[in-house]
Amino acid sequence: MNSLLAPYRAAVPVAFESSWESPANIAFVKYWGKKGHQLPANPSVSMTLKECKTSTKTKFSLSNNLTVELKLDGQKNERFAQKIKSYLEGLQTELPWISNLSVEIETANTFPHGTGIASSASGLSAFVLTFVDYLKHLNPEGDHALFLKRASYLSRLASGSACRSIYGGFVAWGDSAQVETSDLYASPVDVHADLASLQDTVLVVSGKEKNVSSRAGHGLMGDHPFALSRFAQANANFSQCISALKSGDIEALGKILETEALSLHAMMLTSSTPYILLKPNTLAAIDAIWDFRRETKLPLYFTLDAGPNLHLIYPEEFKSKIFTFITHELSALSEQIIDDKVGTGPRKC
Ligand code: PMV
Repeated sequence: MNSLLAPYRAAVPVAFESSWESPANIAFVKYWGKKGHQLPANPSVSMTLKECKTSTKTKFSLSNNLTVELKLDGQKNERFAQKIKSYLEGLQTELPWISNLSVEIETANTFPHGTGIASSASGLSAFVLTFVDYLKHLNPEGDHALFLKRASYLSRLASGSACRSIYGGFVAWGDSAQVETSDLYASPVDVHADLASLQDTVLVVSGKEKNVSSRAGHGLMGDHPFALSRFAQANANFSQCISALKSGDIEALGKILETEALSLHAMMLTSSTPYILLKPNTLAAIDAIWDFRRETKLPLYFTLDAGPNLHLIYPEEFKSKIFTFITHELSALSEQIIDDKVGTGPRKC
């Protein structure tokens, strides 16, 4: 049994209610490919966002068997309820009393629905935080640092990238030689003061739900012809990214951001079942960003998640010029612009 869950094995469930808010995060070095049970094939590092987040209220009560009801923005959602149910069933070997819980979840995203921003990191970490709060209610052992480690461990089991949303600022996940990190949970990374208020303006090129899930994408790395080179590249980029974050070298950081974004999508383009998530407007925006950077020498860089939307990353001190460029030149290529920045992490409400 995992030592993070051992104190709760023999807990006696009672009724309890908890509300948490948890943010999305954007990976600078991407987790793409798994090993074992929800363990990453390479280390990743991300920035936690401030405005894009999920608020979740969970009511735990007693029942003869495990039931889960979930409302997203006030509407019953069977698909997400089933996802949480399977997740909790997976924990039953270690926490057998879960089979006597009735779980009612009310959840809402603060970022507009259907913007194509990955909501699994914020959504699943927010639910897990309410669950870890419940564990704490059943047995209040341990300090806040252990609470967060447990929340990160349990979030990883729900969705890999969710484990990084437990901390604010910049967060690493996955065994590495350079910093003290683990495959089992994420840990915060200290960065140079110049990067402490980095901006992320999200260009929503398409808000349509993608037709290939991240789960399928991770799976395709299993027999991918370039998997080993990709993992080697990700390890090297992780190490360089941590150095750039610590030294405040925005140019070095920007280069890694863009390489990682394009490598992630190159993996999709070259898998045994190839697929393309980029849209013509994604490419048009990348061209415009490169032109802008060449002409102005301003540090504006992009990264991508597993979708067509661009995260535009730049230091706050250049915000007025860069934001003007984004609204004047790039808004015609997008359905929506979300003005976000680095955030401080989840909050109990
Ligand atoms: O956490 P998952 O299984 O949805 O995978 C996330 C993968 C990426 O968002 C593409 C990269 C990352 O590290 O967040």
